[in-house]
Amino acid sequence: MSIAHGIKRLGVLGAGQMGTGIAFVSALHAKVPVLLHDKSAHQVSKGISLIDKLLAKDVSKGRLQPSDAEEARARIQTVDAIEAMRDVDMVVEAVTENLDLKRAIFREFAAKIRPDAILATNTSSISITKIAGAVIPEGVSAAGEEGKAASGRVVGLHFFNPVPVMKLVELISAVQTSQDTLDRSRAFAEACGKEVATSQDVPGFVSNALLMPFINEAIMCLEKGVATRDDIDKTFRLGMAHPMGPLQLADFIGLDTCLFIQQTLYKGTSDSKYRPSVLLERMVDAQYLGKKSGRGFYEYN
Ligand code: CAA
Repeated sequence: MSIAHGIKRLGVLGAGQMGTGIAFVSALHAKVPVLLHDKSAHQVSKGISLIDKLLAKDVSKGRLQPSDAEEARARIQTVDAIEAMRDVDMVVEAVTENLDLKRAIFREFAAKIRPDAILATNTSSISITKIAGAVIPEGVSAAGEEGKAASGRVVGLHFFNPVPVMKLVELISAVQTSQDTLDRSRAFAEACGKEVATSQDVPGFVSNALLMPFINEAIMCLEKGVATRDDIDKTFRLGMAHPMGPLQLADFIGLDTCLFIQQTLYKGTSDSKYRPSVLLERMVDAQYLGKKSGRGFYEYN
């Protein structure tokens, strides 16, 4: 028997590509009302216009009835503070990858959001256990009932970009995560139309522990002149049927994000196989961040 996710209202923090995509699939497929917040009003309006465009495209392709698109759109409401998410059953955080920032946000969630709500992070490599440690009130024992209840509701729910297209959600359990949180989070991801793969809380989880060394090796091949950019990417597009070659994919993910994940893997394991290539570091130093900045391994206009 499938487990009910019990999410009647969702909060999404961060209206970048990931947060917007999560709001979109939650409203459209899981049909739950979504409260979307970002500290940047500009980011919120960009996110909302992306949602409008995605719904309009689905209608124009005949995949969605106009009335269903209107209903999905009406489920998404923007709010200007975390306080407005007080009564949600689950919140998904999708802000910049920074441990201190995430720990501060989760402390704020713990103080402001209903104590039985699930607190999920979309992080692609930061330890869920470290984030969960932040929600235990000062003076409370992590191993006692109160501490366990506080941190047991924290979970990793890692969506992939573009969220409306990619079929996977990686479900990561912190050391502290309760079985109920895991079961309901899985059920919610499935209601969003996704398949779930689980991973332990190791640096990069399964997805990035495997993807990032691959991308890094591709950058090193380019750096050493083993092959041209186009031939490296062509090898994987045509030889292995990847939708994008590794250099194009790195641009798509964002070179700063790739570097951050690689640094997290390297720091978290001390394994030299994760050491970021000098070329990747220099590209980020130069602010050639990939598609989002107009230039990475490719140029974009
Ligand atoms: N948002 C929503 N939909 C998008 C989109 C976006 N940003 N970009 C493309 N799409 C949709 C298009 O609208 C199109 O939909 P329809 O078929 O309904 O028209 C569909 O995707 C295909 O797009 P295109 O025809 O324009 O282009 P394509 O066939 O080259 O596909 C792609 C684009 C889906 C991005 C494909 O190239 C792809 O799958 N690339 C690999 C993406 C990938 O590996 N993502 C994971 C990155 S790793 C990550 O996210 C996690 C991490 O931790 C780093």
